[in-house]
Amino acid sequence: MQIAVGILTISDRASGGDYADLGGPALKKFAEDCGWQVQSEAIIPDEITRIQETIRAFSAQRCGLILATGGTGIAARDVTPEAIRAIMRVELPGFGEAMRMESLKITPNAILSRSLAAVVNQSLVVALPGKPSGAVECLGFVVGAIPHAVALAQRMPTSC
Ligand code: MTE
Repeated sequence: MQIAVGILTISDRASGGDYADLGGPALKKFAEDCGWQVQSEAIIPDEITRIQETIRAFSAQRCGLILATGGTGIAARDVTPEAIRAIMRVELPGFGEAMRMESLKITPNAILSRSLAAVVNQSLVVALPGKPSGAVECLGFVVGAIPHAVALAQRMPTSC
């Protein structure tokens, strides 16, 4: 299945140029290795309105899948789950459960991530941890369900 992907790095420091964004490129490689088409990319600060605007823009650009990395933890500026939950139609708790359960086999710190998946407009949004290796690991744990979830998200009518 051909999937158009938007990749969103959510990080004050990467968006401010304090360090290079490694998470976005790591997710891009993962997506391309899956045969998906990366259509949109952005690096933005940890701000609720910027996160929501960018997800909506990617959705309007017909990204069936939006992969976000960063802001899922418990630092004061980590607001990715709040931003997504305020605009989602429905959450898919199994994604977060699977990501944490499998990641706990790698690191006890996985329990600190509030990673999640949700349907926003007609896009599947998967919010992954900010550490590049963690983002790729988590995506790997749920990738099997992504094509079907994207297909369902795209067929469903939306009120947003
Ligand atoms: N999950 C996996 N698979 N691998 C990791 O290295 N890092 C954890 C966790 N989940 C990690 C992981 C850490 S250290 C944190 S603080 C949380 O994700 C939240 O990360 P974030 O705030 O950058 O999104």
